[in-house]
Amino acid sequence: MPTYILFMGAPGAGKGTQAQILREEFGLPQVASGDLFRDNLKRMTPLGQHARTFMDKGELVPDDVTIDMIRQRLREADAAQGAVLDGFPRTIAQAEGLDKLLAEFGGKVNVALYLNVRESVLLERLSGRWVCRGPQQHTYHLVFNPPKAPGQCDVCGAELYQREDDQAEVQARRIKVFMEQTAPLIKFYTGRGQLIRIDGEQPVARVTAEMRAAVQNALSQ
Ligand code: AP5
Repeated sequence: MPTYILFMGAPGAGKGTQAQILREEFGLPQVASGDLFRDNLKRMTPLGQHARTFMDKGELVPDDVTIDMIRQRLREADAAQGAVLDGFPRTIAQAEGLDKLLAEFGGKVNVALYLNVRESVLLERLSGRWVCRGPQQHTYHLVFNPPKAPGQCDVCGAELYQREDDQAEVQARRIKVFMEQTAPLIKFYTGRGQLIRIDGEQPVARVTAEMRAAVQNALSQ
């Protein structure tokens, strides 16, 4: 049976950072809805151009479009054993869509890890974030995780850039949208006994250790 692990949290909570570290240990691909939209945007596909109109404002891309994109991605060969889902689902409708989708693959959500981080810390993280233009989109922070050479990815050498939706006014909107539309999923997965809350304000390595232990525990039951 395939394994599906959800990484949940507000913008800047550290979902992507942790997924990049843990995906190899888990032997599962990281399926990040935001990365998939940005990849489509880079390739100027109709999906990317449609998504941009929402992303630039800090709004969510409509559920049907997002679920279809995830369905296609999960059908790819590297996801046959499951996936780490980073930033999806983000609404109750997406969570219900995901249940149906995973049933098609003979699987279910195994565990949902929620990274809890205060808003003041989220804003500090988003303001200092730099992302690699390479396919893996490695993430850095000017203060908390600086690259060895300024403006260059340690792993692949690609140029680092700041995301357009990390501008101050869009950051605030994204956090508000999270509180209104995504935070209800905490209750949704808690009610199903699948949610594990992690203190996302700890150092990266400590967060990784707690997430690793939580997944091992969930999968052993
Ligand atoms: P998306 O790309 O998913 O962005 P997000 O959820 O806003 O999350 P981020 O990527 O901003 O943060 P993160 O939690 O991954 O943090 P990171 O690890 O980078 O979505 C972008 C847009 O796409 C959305 O606004 C929406 O329009 C659309 N979209 C995406 N998914 C969608 C969906 N399902 N439905 C509809 N629309 C969707 O860390 C942040 C910074 O902090 C980094 O600099 C990092 O180095 C640093 N950091 C991380 N952890 C720590 C730590 N423990 N201590 C110190 N610093 C840390």
